Amino acid sequence: MDASGQGKLLVVTGLEKSYSAKVLSEVDLSIGAGEVHALVGENGAGKSTLAGIVAGLVKPDGGHMNLNGRPYAPRNRRDAESSGIRLVMQELNLIGNLTLAESLFFDRLPHRLGWINYNRLNEQARPLLDQVGLGELDPTRLVSSLGVGQQQLIEIAVGLSRRCDLLILDEPTAALTDPEIDRLFAQIVRLKANGVGMIYISHRLEEVQRVADRISVLRDGQLVFTRRPSETSLEEIVRWMVGRELGSVVRQRPARSGGAVALRVRGLRAGPAVQDVSFEARYGEILGFAGLMGSGRTETMRALYGADRREAGQIFLRGSDVPAKIRTPSDAVRRGLALLTENRKEQGLLLPMAVRANISLSHLGSISRWGGWVQTAVEQAVALRWIQNLRIRCASAEQPAVELSGGNQQKVVIAKWLCRDCEVMIFDEPTRGIDVGAKFEVYRLLADLADKGKAIIIVSSDLKELMASCDRIAVMSAGRLAAVFDRGEWSQDAIMAAALSGYGVNL
Ligand SMILES: Nc1ncnc2c1ncn2[C@@H]1O[C@H](COP(=O)(O)OP(=O)(O)OP(=O)(O)O)[C@@H](O)[C@H]1O
Ligand SMILES: [Mg+2]
Repeated sequence: MDASGQGKLLVVTGLEKSYSAKVLSEVDLSIGAGEVHALVGENGAGKSTLAGIVAGLVKPDGGHMNLNGRPYAPRNRRDAESSGIRLVMQELNLIGNLTLAESLFFDRLPHRLGWINYNRLNEQARPLLDQVGLGELDPTRLVSSLGVGQQQLIEIAVGLSRRCDLLILDEPTAALTDPEIDRLFAQIVRLKANGVGMIYISHRLEEVQRVADRISVLRDGQLVFTRRPSETSLEEIVRWMVGRELGSVVRQRPARSGGAVALRVRGLRAGPAVQDVSFEARYGEILGFAGLMGSGRTETMRALYGADRREAGQIFLRGSDVPAKIRTPSDAVRRGLALLTENRKEQGLLLPMAVRANISLSHLGSISRWGGWVQTAVEQAVALRWIQNLRIRCASAEQPAVELSGGNQQKVVIAKWLCRDCEVMIFDEPTRGIDVGAKFEVYRLLADLADKGKAIIIVSSDLKELMASCDRIAVMSAGRLAAVFDRGEWSQDAIMAAALSGYGVNL
């Protein structure tokens, strides 16, 4: 690597960081002007920590950085930003009750006059929304009304719209579907042409190969590998990430037919996003839900589960002809219907609480039935089993969830629902932010559950994962169910065509 750092935008040398354990150890990394340097590695490898140090959020214990040939040691985020370094963070950090326009100009709202020219603000927001393909949205809408993918795009729009020399994107595409990713890549190409350097963190290795000039792998806090995409392969990158052979990353599910109907949905309506949706899920099968962002997948699941109000429609469980009364999520869980939501911060996880407590939360009932109160020993044993099964990286089961890396937090949410005994389990973006090795584990566990006779529904923005692991795939488009494919009948093109069909687009 370029030891002198000449001609480099940012040069990081010998970076060190420890919390209770060592997180980064002697990390050297450089980024040139106009270069996209991708950073990959397993959950907990130290990627976000490294990004945080460069962006002034985390103090390193050792090492130094040079920016444009001069020593660089940001005291805080503001300091880094005034030096021209910006970070779009992995976790969503928007404030729900601001409008889109307010979020975009959050740090530039003219406070001094005591009032804000909202017409101008909304005018200025439009081109920024347009850049990330959200030009159709009303800038006065509240952020909280958007799904996770759209919120992610708003965060990206904020990052793209500020002048900077180095932009760090920490898993920008985790909740995006292919057309949105293409749009983001077009913006990256534009920034590159303007000489902006980028650190690009992602678990989606194919897109990393597409967008990066160089790829580096972090393993257990050490930078073990740096190559140009043309000099390496997916298999080699994965090998360096996990230190073992994984075989094919997602195993193809063998063709099989499902059992009796476990869940039947008739004429479901809920707001503009869910218009007359009907489908069935069978015992023993994995039913996937594909569709573009905003097509109504998440809203359908939330309405089913009682998390959002239904305007019309009936839900039948266990082959019954009598509609199930589901008005709230606890009604749903009591009747054997579980939903793992896409936004773990809002709905899935209690951040200050221990990993152990988070895992046992949803099945307190089944544990405490015998003793009257929660038996810590049982809780502990259950938690340890899941920590091992999903390879959750934590100091101990007592570590607060907030201290875990993003992907490991997601694994805790999954564990929490996997140990709950529900007949119908809905997983909304279960592998968002999860590394390749653990993804494989998650899909294996979901397949196990289906094989044990449960009905599993997966909503995912990753079509390849759905195609590998589902028995059937339902495709939503503009709030309606556009098609349902059986295994063996689908192709990527056919699914994409169905996903676009509701928007008046023909392929
Ligand atoms: N505030 C903290 N206190 C204690 N440990 C921490 C803290 N922040 C991070 N860690 C630990 O540092 C390690 C690296 O975390 P980091 O968030 O950098 O991982 P990552 O590579 O970004 O993973 P992911 O792919 O899951 O986002 C993890 O084991 C995490 O538990
Ligand atoms: Mg991270």
